[in-house]
Order: sequence, then C-alpha cells, then structure tokens
Amino acid sequence: MRFIITHVFFVLIFLLLGVHFRTSRNKLGTAKTEQKLASGLLTLKKVGPNQVIVDNGIIQVTFSSPQGLITGIKYKGFENVLNNKIKNRGYWDVMWYEPGQKQLIDLLEGVKFNVVNQTSEHVEISFSRTWKISQRGSLVPLNVDKRYIIRRGVSGIYVYAVLEKLKDWPTVDMDQTRIVFKLNTEFDFMAISDQRQKIMPSEIDRDITNKRANPLAYKEAVRLINPQNRIFKGQVDDKYMYSMENKDNKVHGWISSDQRVGFWMITPSDEFRVCGPLKQELTSHVGPTTLSMFTSLHYAGKDMNTTYTSMEPWKKMYGPIFVYLNSASSHNLLWTDAKRQMAAEVESWPYNFVKSVDYPLHHQRGTVKGQFFVMDRYISKLKLFGKFAFVGLAMPDKAGSWQTENKGYQFWTSADRMGMFTITNVRPGSYSLYAWVSGHIGDYKYEHDITITPGREIDVGAIVYEPPRIGATLWEIGKPDRTAAEFYIPDPDPTLSTKLYLNNSYHPQDRFRQYGLWDRYTALYPRDDLVYIVGVSDYKKDWFYAHVTRNAGNGTYQATTWQIVFSLKAVTKTGNYTFRMALAAATTAKLSVRINGPTSKSIFMIELIGQDNAIARHGIHGLYKLYDINVGGNLLRVGNNTIFLTQDRRWGSFTGVMYDYLRLESPPEV
Ligand SMILES: *[C@@H]1O[C@H](CO)[C@@H](O)[C@H](O)[C@H]1NC(C)=O
Ligand SMILES: *[C@@H]1O[C@H](CO)[C@@H](O)[C@H](O)[C@H]1NC(C)=O
Ligand SMILES: *[C@@H]1O[C@H](CO)[C@@H](O)[C@H](O)[C@H]1NC(C)=O
Ligand SMILES: *[C@@H]1O[C@H](CO)[C@@H](O)[C@H](O)[C@H]1NC(C)=O
Ligand SMILES: *[C@@H]1O[C@H](CO)[C@@H](O)[C@H](O)[C@H]1NC(C)=O
Ligand SMILES: *[C@@H]1O[C@H](CO)[C@@H](O)[C@H](O)[C@H]1NC(C)=O
Repeated sequence: MRFIITHVFFVLIFLLLGVHFRTSRNKLGTAKTEQKLASGLLTLKKVGPNQVIVDNGIIQVTFSSPQGLITGIKYKGFENVLNNKIKNRGYWDVMWYEPGQKQLIDLLEGVKFNVVNQTSEHVEISFSRTWKISQRGSLVPLNVDKRYIIRRGVSGIYVYAVLEKLKDWPTVDMDQTRIVFKLNTEFDFMAISDQRQKIMPSEIDRDITNKRANPLAYKEAVRLINPQNRIFKGQVDDKYMYSMENKDNKVHGWISSDQRVGFWMITPSDEFRVCGPLKQELTSHVGPTTLSMFTSLHYAGKDMNTTYTSMEPWKKMYGPIFVYLNSASSHNLLWTDAKRQMAAEVESWPYNFVKSVDYPLHHQRGTVKGQFFVMDRYISKLKLFGKFAFVGLAMPDKAGSWQTENKGYQFWTSADRMGMFTITNVRPGSYSLYAWVSGHIGDYKYEHDITITPGREIDVGAIVYEPPRIGATLWEIGKPDRTAAEFYIPDPDPTLSTKLYLNNSYHPQDRFRQYGLWDRYTALYPRDDLVYIVGVSDYKKDWFYAHVTRNAGNGTYQATTWQIVFSLKAVTKTGNYTFRMALAAATTAKLSVRINGPTSKSIFMIELIGQDNAIARHGIHGLYKLYDINVGGNLLRVGNNTIFLTQDRRWGSFTGVMYDYLRLESPPEV
C-alpha cells in the first residue's frame, strides 16, 4: 500500500514538472531508451513551421504540416516505429488519371492545418485542401480533408479522410486509394491471421541487382537466392500471397521480435470498402509495409467502374481505421492482444467521438432485418433456410452488381443457420438489398429498393430466392461457392515453394497461395488436355483448379480444350437442356463451348472476359460470373456425349478462367 501511494506521489511530481527520464528496459533485453512517463496528458504542439506533434504519454505522433503525412510515431523503445530512411512513410495515396492521360499518384497533401477539436480526452486534427481548376492535370480533382484522432489513454491513431468531387470537375479515373505505412526495419514478424504468421524476409533480400533474388514472372514475385536469413533461401516472396477477403481483413500487421512491439492495422467496419465482402486486398508485406486498402483493381480489374464522370458529384468518407501499437513479451501475446483490440473497436463502431457531418453516429443510422430462404423445387418442395447466406445493402443496381460497385457504402452480414439476418448501423440513404448463398448459383436482389432513415428499423420479413433452374440436375462438377478451392490444387514446383504459416504448419485450405501453380498444368498435361468423366472422375482430384494455357516452352502458349464426358440413357430431342457454367475468376480469356465434336459449331462463345488476374495473384477466385447456356436436345444422343470447353486466348501463363461450378439440367418437367 505504502509503495502504491509513494508511486502515485512520484508520478504526480513527474507530471507537474513534466519530467522525462531515461530508463533501461532490461526486462525485455532491449537497449536503453528514452521513454516518457505514461502521464495520460494529451498535448498538441506545433514545432517549427512544418511539424505538428500530438502526444498522449503512450504514443507521440509527428505530422508534417500542413501536408498531414505521419512522419514519426514514438512508442516504447522506438524513437520512430516508422522507417526514418524513407521520405514518405505514413501516407495516403490515390492513383488517378484523366481519360487518355498518364496515371499519376497523389499523396493528398494538405495545404491547411486545423485543430478540429481539442479536449483533455481527445485531439482531432485536420489537414485539408480545396481543388482549383488551375490545378487540373497535377492534382486529383478532389477536395481533401484528412483527419487524425488521438485519444487519452489509447495506444493508437484513428485515421480517416473525406474526399469530395464536385459536379463539373473533370472526369477522372481513380483506380486505387489506400493508406501506407513503411515500418522501421526492426519489424521482422508478420501476422495477418491466426495461422498466417511468420518471420519475414527483408526488402534487401528482394534485391535483384545485387543477386540476392532472381526475378520471376512479374515484378512483385522474386525467388530469394541469397537472403540475409538463410531460412528463406529458395523461397518465393510475393505480396499477393498475403491477400485476404475484406470480410476477414480486420487486423493485420507486424511485430518487432527484439523490441516486443506490435504495429497493427485495425479495420472495424467494411462499410467504406468496395465490391463487397469477398473482394480481396493486400494486407501487409515485405518492406516492412502495412496497408489499408480502400479501393483497388486487385482481383477485380476494370470490371469495376472507376470512372468518376464530370456529371457525377461524389463524396465519401474512407475510415476511420485504427492504427494500434502494443507491447508484450511474445509474438502470441501481441497477436492475441491485437485481436482483442480489434474486437473492442468493432464493438464500439460507429465511434461516438468522430464528429464529422459525414459520419452518422449510431442513432443516426438504421437497421434492416429479415429471413432469407431459397426455393429450388428440384432440390426440395419446401423453402430451404438460406443458411449462412451473405446479405447486404449496396447502391441500387442489378443483382450481383455489388461485386464491382466501388463508389458508395456497402453493409453486409452473414445470416444464421435459419437465414435470419440483421444489418445494423447502416448509413442513411437508398440501397438495394442483395444476397447470395453457398450451395446455390446466382444472385438475389430484393424487389424494392430500401431507404434507410436515422433510427429506423426495417423488417423485410421472409424473402425467397429462386436460383436459376429449368430442369433436374443430370450431373454437376464442383460446389457453387464462388471459389475453385474444391478442385485439384497442385503442389508447387519444389524450387518455388514458400513457407507461409506459423511454425511452418500446413493448411490445405490455403494451398492455392503458392507461386507458379498455373504452370503445373503443363507439367501434368504435357500433351493431352484434361478429360473429366462424369460418374468416374472426382473433381477434387481430376479437375485442375484453373483452365489455363499450355506453356510450349519456346515463348508461346497453346489453347487448351477440356472435355466433360457424360452418358445419357434417354434424350428429349425436342427439348432444351441447360448448361450452367459458373466462373470463379477470369483473366483475358476467350472461352467457347462445343457439344460432341471439338470442331463443331460452338454453342457459346465469349471473345474476351475478365481482368481479375486472380490466377497470377494466387487468389482462388476473382469475380463471379454465371452463364446459362441453352443446349438443344437435337445436339445430344443416347450414350456418351462430350462437352468441349476451349480456352483459346494465348497471351501468357495467367490467361484463363477458374470454374466455380458446372451443371447440366434436363429440359423442364411438363
Ligand atoms: C469537442 O469535443 C467535446 C467533447 O467531446 C465536445 O463537447 C465539444 O462540443 C467539441 N467541440 C467542438 C468544437 O467540436
Ligand atoms: C462508368 O460509370 C459512369 C457513370 O458513373 C458512366 O457514364 C460510364 O459509362 C461507366 N463506364 C463503363 C465502362 O461502364
Ligand atoms: C509455434 O511454436 C512456438 C514455439 O515453439 C509454440 O510456443 C507455439 O505454441 C506454436 N504455435 C502453434 C500454433 O503451434
Ligand atoms: C513452339 O513450340 C510449339 C510446340 O512444340 C510449336 O508448335 C510451335 O511451332 C513453336 N513455336 C515457335 C515460335 O517456335
Ligand atoms: C429451345 O430453345 C430454342 C432457342 O432458344 C427455342 O427457339 C425453342 O423454342 C426452345 N424449345 C423448347 C421446347 O422450349
Ligand atoms: C463412354 O465413355 C466411357 C468413358 O470414356 C467409356 O468407358 C465407355 O466405353 C463409353 N461408352 C460407349 C458406349 O462408347
């Protein structure tokens, strides 16, 4: 007791005197560091003409002013958690161009610094700029207001920005918007999920000019041949191995094993992200780098419409995201604490301390609930529960449009086992209600648009999705779940494999994250293409996960034709059969379907589809596409029939498609 009182007394003295003291952190075995007493005082000061420092006694954050880049974060043993050797180390950027012009990067630097609010509890500061027509061609035509909030007793920084484009400002494409942190190179261990954690190579290890690494098929991927840490020798490094679906991307970051410090990107809500819960994005990667991706073409491509026309006024708030710092004695404790903090941030969303007119508080938001059913009379005469369906609100448009929608806000939830769903904290506005459910093809859209008003709860009651269906299933290949994960995913070439998991453990559900799997098709099928025999073949073993080209080995690529052989006991010659072809991904593919003859007239042909690049980026899906193909009964015969699927675009290794699911339906019952 006396100790505590004495301690408190001294803390008070230190507080009053504003004393800094030096401490050696022997317990953690780190170097002597200057550390401020965790005073709990929140201070904001301007230092010189171009720096602003906010200090809450736990972290001390330095901003360039009025640009508003984060240049320093002092925490625990770190003078700077960010990399001092790199000029831009805590910044926003937008990749943009006016049609026909070259692409530029804009760091959204402010020209005006402003204290939005300063109390003993929190400081909110703003770095802003207003666009002028004279800046056309040099700055992205946006009004920018970048905000940072630092709170008393909170070990981190809340970051958001409001971007606005007024009507009649030039038409512009914005392909990517993100926040980037380049960390101190003492950060050596990366964690993005419970299993996806490991010691990482360094930026130097990726150096091709110094012969530390060999180049591979694209610049993001290298093979480490002479890394500083020998354990990485022979492995591939590629930032796309660490991509994640938005729905799972809530916390990721880095640990300094030496300083026992963690740096985490926490995203408490998906509302400001784009293209729905399945959109994949980069997380953290070698640098050490940590990103918060708001929009990008990754795993989607220009099927996303990133053109903001001059006719179209647009305003959006990205964030707040939370940059969290912690300190604990082991990797596991740091990760566990980062997850705990993430859960706390999710719980307090929407934050009550963000005072922006563009950020509705809890009572200013609305709720939509209901129960989602599926009716497919060829599976069951009764309605089925839309078990674990994804249900969401996004800009009004056609069914499935959410997966390429990138200008508005989206709100998604996962229904329970009985299809019951509640979407909370929806910003006021007009939306369509969308859904899809694993196990069934296609996309649902509710017949009425939904207008959310503050505080209102809308109950849509029972809603029923009737997936596309004309006749009974004659056969099917795969599972309708929008990925190719259930198909055959080969082992990587042994000289190109990467250890991706905690303690080098093995996670079969993530096999697809290896480099170069596309080339295994040529190794497995050097001469003849894949033939799948319905009733004999097993799609888990006999259906390659991606329909790619064959590498001829002399710089050219060959078209490939896969066959599905199936036997019919009877054929309704006058009826129409339906071939359902669901794609999980497509990259500049030319796909055709033929029946009973590899050179017969195609019954279906798409000249050029897809730019999601999911094959090269080790995604097991990109964008979902469903094709319903009519097969005249006159083309079929009793006994063996063959469907020929040809991928005839020969632009390289990554050209092709991933199938999600294939099904042949008989003509409708009459
Ligand atoms: C600043 O924040 C305090 C407490 O959060 C609030 O009472 C006050 O109105 C705010 N001031 C401004 C100018 O927003
Ligand atoms: C993109 O959207 C704008 C309107 O927002 C529209 O004018 C334009 O035609 C669209 N572009 C494409 C390729 O669909
Ligand atoms: C990984 O290895 C460490 C050290 O050997 C051990 O403490 C930890 O429990 C392991 N983690 C898992 C998930 O196996
Ligand atoms: C490349 O190899 C393929 C397969 O052996 C062959 O058909 C093609 O003519 C060759 N092309 C060139 C340009 O050598
Ligand atoms: C089959 O499809 C063709 C082409 O769409 C159509 O003209 C024909 O009427 C259909 N036949 C039946 C029996 O539905
Ligand atoms: C049908 O195809 C299967 C698989 O290729 C084959 O085993 C069988 O002999 C074929 N039947 C006829 C009647 O050709």
